[in-house]
Order: sequence, then C-alpha cells, then structure tokens
Amino acid sequence: MPSEPSKTFYLETFGCQMNVHDSEKVIGTLKQQGYRQVETVEAADLILYNTCSIRDKAEQKVFHRLADYKKLRAQGKTFGVLGCVAQQEGEKIFERAPHVSLVCGSASYRNLPAMLIQIGAGKSRVTGLDDRETDECFETEFTARSNPHRGYITIIEGCDKFCAYCVVPFTRGKERSRTSDSVLSEARQMADLGYTEIQLLGQNVNSYKDPAGKRSFSELLAAVAEVPGIRRVRFTTSHPRDFGRDIVEAIDSVPSLCNHVHLPVQSGSRRVLEAMQRLYTREQYLERIAWIKAAKRDISITTDVIVGFPGETEAEFAETLALMDVVEYDGIFGFKYSPRPNTPALQLEDIIPDSEKTRRLAVLQEKQRQIQKRRNDRHLNEICEVMVEGRNETRKQWVGRTSQNKVLNFSAAQDANPELGGYLFVRATASFPNSLLGEMVV
Ligand code: SAH
Ligand code: SF4
Ligand code: F3S
Repeated sequence: MPSEPSKTFYLETFGCQMNVHDSEKVIGTLKQQGYRQVETVEAADLILYNTCSIRDKAEQKVFHRLADYKKLRAQGKTFGVLGCVAQQEGEKIFERAPHVSLVCGSASYRNLPAMLIQIGAGKSRVTGLDDRETDECFETEFTARSNPHRGYITIIEGCDKFCAYCVVPFTRGKERSRTSDSVLSEARQMADLGYTEIQLLGQNVNSYKDPAGKRSFSELLAAVAEVPGIRRVRFTTSHPRDFGRDIVEAIDSVPSLCNHVHLPVQSGSRRVLEAMQRLYTREQYLERIAWIKAAKRDISITTDVIVGFPGETEAEFAETLALMDVVEYDGIFGFKYSPRPNTPALQLEDIIPDSEKTRRLAVLQEKQRQIQKRRNDRHLNEICEVMVEGRNETRKQWVGRTSQNKVLNFSAAQDANPELGGYLFVRATASFPNSLLGEMVV
C-alpha cells in the first residue's frame, strides 16, 4: 500500500471566485508534488493564505492570521502568502511578518513547486512577483475542484480598466485571455467527469478576446453551453462597457445559458461614474439594462455598488437609489468605499466619514431588501428547475438554486430522495428577500 505523503499543507482562501478557483489549482499542484492537504494550521508543515486586497478589511485578515500563528514558526512550519496582497505588498510582507518565507502573486503559481524546493533547501525568503505586463496565466491539468457537480473555468485574467478606486489592475496584471479551444476542451473534460454546471470567470469576463480569433465572448458562451452533458453555464463578472447585445441574444437562444447577468453599476450618478473612471455613463448602463429586460427570457440582474466614493454628495447617492428603482435588481453587493494603495482615487479629497458611509450602505440595503422581496414574490406558484445544492437538516429542507441564481429551499416526499447535484422541479410557495421556499413537483 502506498504510504501517505509526509508533507502536509493548509490553505485558507479569501476574496473572489477567481481566488477560490486559483486555490483549487494550487491544491492540485501541491498534491501532485506529494503534499497532503490538512484541515488545521497545527497539523500542517506548510501554511498558505490566498489573499484579497480589494478593501482594507480583506487585506487586514491575512495579517491577523499571520499574527495569530506566529509562534508556530518555532515548530519549523513554513508560512506563505499568495494572491492579491502578495502581489501588491511584495517583499514588504517579510518586514511586517518576518515568519513568512514565501510571497507569490497569482501569475507566478506555475513556479510554486520550484519555489517550495528552494525553501526546502534552506532559502528563507522566496518571492514570485510578476510585473503588470506579464503574459503568464496559470493553467494546470491537476485542478482539484472542490465540488463534483459545478466548477469554474477562468477564461480571462487581469484587468485593463483602471477604475479609480480599484487594486485589481495592479494585483492581477493586464487582461489576457485563453484560447476558446482550450476553454472548450476543459469544459468537455469537466463534462466527461460528470460536471453539469460551469461558471466562466474573469475580472471582466466579457472583455474576453480569443487570442486565436476564433470565437467572440458570446460565441464562446454558446459553445460551452452546448457541450454535451453541460446543463448550466454562468459567467461573472461582466463589465458594462463591454456588454454587447449579442450576450442577451445568446441567452435567449441557448437554454442552458443561465438567465442571470451580474452587471456592476457602482454608482447611479453620471459625475461619480466619471470620477470613478468607469468608462460608461448612467445612460449607457441603463441602455444595457433595457436590452436585458427586453429579452424573451426573464433574466435576473444583480450588481455591485460602492457608497461613499470621495466627493459623493447626498444628491448623487440619491441618484443611485433612484437607479435601483428603475432596474429593480434581484441582488446587490453593497460596499463602503475603501481607499486602496496605488489607486488614483487616493488623490481625491472630500473624504466621507465612515459613519456616513455606514448610513448610506444601510439605506441602500434596506431599499434593496424591499425590492428583492417584490422581485422574489413574482416567482410565487412558478415551477422552477433547480440544481440540488445541499440539505438543511435542522429545517428538513433541501437547498436548490434556480437558473436565475436564486436560492429555492424545498421540501420533498420522504421517498423522493433528491440527489446532490441533481436537477428537479420545484413549485415556489413562499418568498423572502433572500430566498424562496417551495415543494418538489413529482
Ligand atoms: N471587475 C469587476 C469587479 C471586481 S471587484 C467590475 O468591474 O465590476 C468586486 C467589487 O468590489 C467591485 O465591483 C466593487 O463594487 C468593489 N470594490 C472594488 N474596489 C473597491 C474599493 N476600493 N472600495 C470598496 N469597494 C470596492
Ligand atoms: Fe477593478 Fe474596475 Fe477592473 Fe473591475 S473593472 S476589476 S472594478 S479596475
Ligand atoms: Fe480580491 Fe484579488 Fe479577487 S483583490 S476580489 S482576490 S482579484
């Protein structure tokens, strides 16, 4: 019997889906190198944090973790920082947390095995930091996806948009896409392994440009959705400037493309959008919303909003609230503006106090709660197809997700026994702001 690998690692992931998926690739790579994943810091020889620096709070998390476990360094454990904080802070991390031996940004993960060998050979500080212009992407056949039914595929890395508030263009490098053929071959492999849902990822997924010039983004969406065995395709995040009508047409003509679009608006004010350097106006944004609403399918729309951007007046914030009434979003991620290193917005004066940002966020969220309840009410008595995602034992309910990306909890007859990852039909019988409740249809 082969003995268990002796080297162990622990990996904690912060941040967006891109980071979650990168971690799946890192885990696969480490396992291939003979490491075994463990569930606690204490049991690990190698402790890795895949970090996020989108807001200050996210960035602080890794430094808290490193401080918490500092004393374990004496036991010979190796600490590594991966991801966006690693790329942003670089070698400064060694000063702030001297027990860290490895600092590696996302474009350098292909070098992780070599870097770990250097550490094993006694090198105390190893870095993998690329400049913004790197063409490197990290693709591996060893990706260890954590869910056997739905999985991510990164189709475009990086960001060229440089919104005034955002670190991503600095932490993730320039925009670079994979060929559509390689995306399709990964999708087919996933289908062969039994995956039925694929989520295509990119900081701006719809800025995708096939380096081989073979397929547009919407053609790639349709092609992935038509891979035999694939029943659902999602894509996130779409940038409004690059959002074409062809995406709506693809959703209308390919049923397995989910009827949900995440289209971050950030602000409803023309002036604030300009100051944010978002590259579209309120009117252009609403034009895209109108295309989505004119679709034959009922496409759900979600968004991201930043409140308290420097100089945002009460009247400009009210324009965001008014835009919410026009669009009637199915979901909003609201954030308080957080000043970030290297970003142009740091130069702006007219700082809004945290208490005021907190107030605006609460107003936004309360308004959205009401809108969402109304949006969810529309589904009452509807029969929706859900993918079964889990079981809530306390409530004796199954957790399902609709194509529109809504959570639909449901009960089923005892002998029905829904399977995780299976698809079935549920009639919605009650609605709440954040979910629907229903009964399985037999
Ligand atoms: N590329 C995507 C967003 C990626 S970041 C897009 O352009 O839409 C996810 C969200 O974090 C952003 O949509 C924005 O709402 C929020 N965000 C980014 N930087 C921020 C900052 N400095 N302060 C607060 N929220 C921020
Ligand atoms: Fe950040 Fe803007 Fe790029 Fe989105 S488009 S990742 S918000 S810079
Ligand atoms: Fe955070 Fe980096 Fe994603 S900053 S949101 S982990 S791209």
